Amino acid sequence: MPILFDEKQKLFLLNTKNTTYAFAVAERGFLTHLHYGPKIADCDVAAMRRPFCKSFSPTLDNIDSRDTALAECACFGSGDFRTPSILVRQSDGHAVLKLTYKNHFIRKGKVKIPGLPASFAPEADVETLEMILVDEKCRLECVLLYSVFADSDVIARSAIVRNRGGEALRIEKLASCLLDVGWEIEKFDLVSFPGSWARERRFRRTPLSDGVHTLASACGITSHRMNPAFCVCSREATEEHGRVYGMALLYSGDFASEIELDPFGSIRMTTGINPACFAWELQSGEEFHAPEALMIVTDGGFGDMSRSMHDFIRAHVMRSPWKSRPRPVLVNNWEATYFDFNGEKLLALAKSASELGVEMLVLDDGWFGKRDNDRCALGDWVENTRKLQGGLSLLSKELQKLGMKLGLWFEPEMISEDSDLFRAHPDWCLQIPGREKLMGRRQFVLDMGREEVVEHLFERMRAILDAAEIAYVKWDCNRYLTEVGSAVLPPERQMEASHRFVLGTYRLHELLLERYPELLIEGCAGGGGRFDAGMLHYVPQIWCSDDTDALERLSIQYGTSFFHPCSSMGAHVSACPNHQTGRTISFSTRGIVALAGTFGYELDMTKLSEAERTEAREQIALYRKVHPIVLEGDLYRLTSPECDPIVAWQNVSKDRKSFVVSWVIPHCTPQQTALRIRLRGLDPERVYADWKTGERFRGDFLMNFGLIHELRDRAGDGAGVIRVFDSAE
Ligand code: GLA
Repeated sequence: MPILFDEKQKLFLLNTKNTTYAFAVAERGFLTHLHYGPKIADCDVAAMRRPFCKSFSPTLDNIDSRDTALAECACFGSGDFRTPSILVRQSDGHAVLKLTYKNHFIRKGKVKIPGLPASFAPEADVETLEMILVDEKCRLECVLLYSVFADSDVIARSAIVRNRGGEALRIEKLASCLLDVGWEIEKFDLVSFPGSWARERRFRRTPLSDGVHTLASACGITSHRMNPAFCVCSREATEEHGRVYGMALLYSGDFASEIELDPFGSIRMTTGINPACFAWELQSGEEFHAPEALMIVTDGGFGDMSRSMHDFIRAHVMRSPWKSRPRPVLVNNWEATYFDFNGEKLLALAKSASELGVEMLVLDDGWFGKRDNDRCALGDWVENTRKLQGGLSLLSKELQKLGMKLGLWFEPEMISEDSDLFRAHPDWCLQIPGREKLMGRRQFVLDMGREEVVEHLFERMRAILDAAEIAYVKWDCNRYLTEVGSAVLPPERQMEASHRFVLGTYRLHELLLERYPELLIEGCAGGGGRFDAGMLHYVPQIWCSDDTDALERLSIQYGTSFFHPCSSMGAHVSACPNHQTGRTISFSTRGIVALAGTFGYELDMTKLSEAERTEAREQIALYRKVHPIVLEGDLYRLTSPECDPIVAWQNVSKDRKSFVVSWVIPHCTPQQTALRIRLRGLDPERVYADWKTGERFRGDFLMNFGLIHELRDRAGDGAGVIRVFDSAE
């Protein structure tokens, strides 16, 4: 039984494969957190309690103080001065709560969260603790949910607030997860993944200093600016060793993760919907569900944390049948043509791509309404037969003759002012009466919280998807939300509009998945502006960034890989000079970097030289060999693009019989001789043979001595190598 309750000590033990999470019901019914770390078989609650600090820590009876105790749930205004996990305004205007133990249930299986993404597993493989706390005064119940999975160290958490009283309540904050870590002698660092458009998820590690550090999005979507996943790690932690706590939120809207180092040396981590952009009216008898969060702890460094997260997301978060299927090699016409295409041009592109082994043409922005530029027509999801004579149906048939499939771009949540949809329904976009609406990429945002908007979009997408053979959809979202108000919500509910937007977006995903379970959907938001574990519940891959420069991508893919599996990272070979940076990197290295994720091309393949065409053929052959390992294997980040002269990574098949190792030298420095790349995760006694050259090495040699990369003068920036090995026995 992974979840144990010791009645005598009122102790809860949550045992994952390698870790224990422990807490107890303390005096007066408060929950006290005791331990989260490597497994301990039993806990002595009396020996684990934190002595409380007397001065300035208010208590009722001098026994206990919320101020210094480690918590599972922290209320605003009742003696815990750290960041609260729950704040609920009551009819008397106060927001102070005292949540104490009421009862609990331990159940097989995992509950779904209405309208929100949630992890899942067969009932026999997961157990859930439902901890019910109550505030006697306003008769609010707060349910803390903890799910423990048989095959993972990840624990899923979420929270529910139930209004059992007679008066309406206003939820102003409800964190999905709170984790307190106390009394450590070590110093800790905070690892976050900030960025911007074309510069997403840069790895940042800073000493955790006193006070509250907020990692947040107030953009209405996950955003490029910050990712809803972070680590707190020991200052000594490396890829392979050391304590790392990881937390990721399954949510694609405004989020806030707060990490607080308190004056007594304990660390509080919370994550959930961003309270700055949110409030929710809860009538008597209603309940509200917070999104789910995932947490993990390991002493095996960042690498171990990432591999556990990748396994968990692939097995328990992603639903698409595509998660374990090889993805088709695609060519996307965006950087090849932008808006300037017609059927003939597309077929010429497809033909030259199909000759090299490309399997799908993705028709990007510009195929609908009057859309010849980004100023108009979003919302008018009707084929433009002026550009595409014969429409999508003919195009898909022509592609089939070439042995190719058709993929199609949509941007469902957006609306152009110059569109038939806007002219028909000006009130369908987010807006606040009396305030100007800001434009973002010359477009407005639909009020996805409205059922009729979601239904309309589903009908339009269905009409398109049913009229032609479409195997793939790229779902884009090219601006952040402003003036987030809804024409149909009363004033006291306007702060719900942003969360309702997210719920509506998820609802549209649900409708599409129900109707087209086999459809391969790639998420996108101006590149990687909505790359989060919540979105991966609906789509198995997400376009990592609009920055396709191979060297920039090393950092973007490195940061992304901390929490998200390689199989989820959309990566393409694009043209040089690169459209974002102007840099030229060899065709070969562009391929090596794209092979680290899902693979495809985003350039005019009719313009490739003969040498490049030969290389592309080889890349695609290599992709077929490498992709199964990247899709389902273990990732080892061998070096870091942030501080090492060589960026190396390795994917190892689960049976440790095959692996692929790649490296890139971003900047050529003359007069150096060689670098040694030590591999990881291999079977030390197994002999591995290079797929191409037949060269043989034992696993222990590769891990302890390594492979040598000779550094040549004048090699240019971005020289790269990829090698695949299989078991020789
Ligand atoms: C976003 C995407 C691009 C492309 C354009 C089309 O920026 O990230 O890949 O689809 O939109 O407008």
